[in-house]
Amino acid sequence: MQPQDESSVEPHIDPLAQHKHLPAVLNHLERQLGFALTLVHNPLKTRLIDQKASFGRQPTCACVLCSSARDYGIVSTPRITFLAMPSKLIVLAASNGENLKLAQRFAEKARALGHTADVLDLTTVELPVFTPRAQAKGTPHAISALEQQLMAAQRWVICAPEYNGSIPPVLTNAIAWLSVTGDDFRALLNGRPIAMATFSGGGGMELLVSLRIQLTHLGAQVVGRQLLSNHAKPAQEDSISDLVQRLLQMQPLQL
Ligand SMILES: Cc1cc2nc3c(=O)[nH]c(=O)nc-3n(C[C@H](O)[C@H](O)[C@H](O)COP(=O)(O)O)c2cc1C
Repeated sequence: MQPQDESSVEPHIDPLAQHKHLPAVLNHLERQLGFALTLVHNPLKTRLIDQKASFGRQPTCACVLCSSARDYGIVSTPRITFLAMPSKLIVLAASNGENLKLAQRFAEKARALGHTADVLDLTTVELPVFTPRAQAKGTPHAISALEQQLMAAQRWVICAPEYNGSIPPVLTNAIAWLSVTGDDFRALLNGRPIAMATFSGGGGMELLVSLRIQLTHLGAQVVGRQLLSNHAKPAQEDSISDLVQRLLQMQPLQL
């Protein structure tokens, strides 16, 4: 991945205390920018490795701290130069009608905010219905690519319709397959920030409640706010923007 932007920041801290406060400064930067930081700096190597560990499994930003001791506090004001890279978002559509359109709006909003976003239409993923008999026949080919695509995105949005007061089969089926076949299914969902949205026939709340129960059961960090839309209540641009920004400020847990 290529750096997207290069900037400099002058942290407002006591220079002599910078080493001690470095993690707090970097956490602050990460929160402000919505970027994960990976640091490269020999004198602070031990500290930096610790720091990197708290930035989630897939850091997306190369960060270089200026290299002399002078720069981080003994003589002059500390200066951090960082190369910021966008974080990656995946928007899952659990149907190919209004929910796919909604998913595309989420992806466009994330891109407008400078992040990489892909839409994945789950109805195009060839998966048989999960049963122990189907499992005994072997792992479907599509699972490995699906798992890789999901792992590569630090944050997910799920756009799903309500079906019979609950989650549509295409979504629970994919989750069922992933739960029994992935190398590390816990890593796939545990600590993952996920936002939920729905376009449903008229309800939608039961889908959101059911999906929240399932995702939190699997350890995901589900954004507190959620988006419910239907023909009588179309999704507002502001609501999409708010949800995306909340999601981007949440960090994957390092477990
Ligand atoms: C099998 C089935 C069950 C449905 N159950 C519900 C429901 O319980 N509540 C609801 O609000 N809409 C329900 N709907 C309507 C869908 O949520 C609605 O058509 C939605 O737009 C489908 O998503 P899509 O436009 O992305 O395909 C159901 C639709 C189907 C096909």
